[in-house]
Amino acid sequence: MHTPEQNILEIKKLKEEKNAIILAHYYQTGDIQDIADFVGDSLALSQKAASNSADIILFAGVKFMAETAKILAPQKKVLLPDLNAGCSLANSCKAEDFEKFLNENPGRTVISYVNTTAEIKALSDIICTSSNAVQIVASLPPEEKIIFAPDRNLGNYILNKTGRDMIIWNGTCHVHEEFSLEAILRLKEENPDAKIIAHPECELPVRLVADFIGSTSSLLQFTRKDKGNCYIVATEAGIIHQMIKENPGKKYIPAPPRDSTCGCSECSFMKLITIEKILNCLKNEQPEITLDNKIIMRAQKPIKRMMEISEKLGL
Ligand code: 13P
Ligand code: SF4
Repeated sequence: MHTPEQNILEIKKLKEEKNAIILAHYYQTGDIQDIADFVGDSLALSQKAASNSADIILFAGVKFMAETAKILAPQKKVLLPDLNAGCSLANSCKAEDFEKFLNENPGRTVISYVNTTAEIKALSDIICTSSNAVQIVASLPPEEKIIFAPDRNLGNYILNKTGRDMIIWNGTCHVHEEFSLEAILRLKEENPDAKIIAHPECELPVRLVADFIGSTSSLLQFTRKDKGNCYIVATEAGIIHQMIKENPGKKYIPAPPRDSTCGCSECSFMKLITIEKILNCLKNEQPEITLDNKIIMRAQKPIKRMMEISEKLGL
């Protein structure tokens, strides 16, 4: 049995020996964010996966993120410390159902959120993340008809912003759909100076009371630049680790879920990754993400389209 400090030292040693990097999402626990070579939101992590000189990418995040890294860097070994780290949103959109849905609604440009399986990406025209979804939809000609999948809340948010002709898949994230409006309003009453900040995957009532809506990196940027001192944070609580690191003098209150016993403001999938699993994974170079070559080729196109549009827009 190693101490946490010994585990961290061993991870650092193995990373160097194997020319590996650790990419971590903001929803990982603080200790994992602190040992990562790069911490970011889905868009920044995809950009980093596409351009780095490591031989091994260890993804401290969930499976669709590690798959995206493999699609963008198929020549590299991509490791995910626990293959059960899925995503309720990605699970809500199965390839055979989606294919049927596309056949029933032909002639539309298919925009899929990055929170999808590689098979769904392969069926899409453009991928987006919450950092660029509105801009990607707005960059298309106004007459273009769209299918958006799989998050209905993000889809409705984009629809309200752009007014485009969109059909939206009916999926949700188990973290963002669980926030309690009543509890958020109670917190606001107790902290009248607090600003409510929310991820666009939250349901409409929460978005309606929010002072600011944005992807995890936009929420972080908002708390960095804003003159306020207190925030009620309606997204996965892991992001608060970075908020405190960047601005320790401010107060961050995690928005509570409706069922306060379920602890849902933490993503149960993200939290499957631990320091011990990262160490074992680096040691054994397992579990590894493998994807069918045909799927990689087909899924690369819509992701690259997203990267090109994002680069053009300076995102
Ligand atoms: P972003 O990283 O794009 O903010 O998305 C949040 C999310 O739900 C990732 O699983
Ligand atoms: Fe999926 Fe929601 Fe977890 Fe993000 S927070 S990985 S969308 S279940």
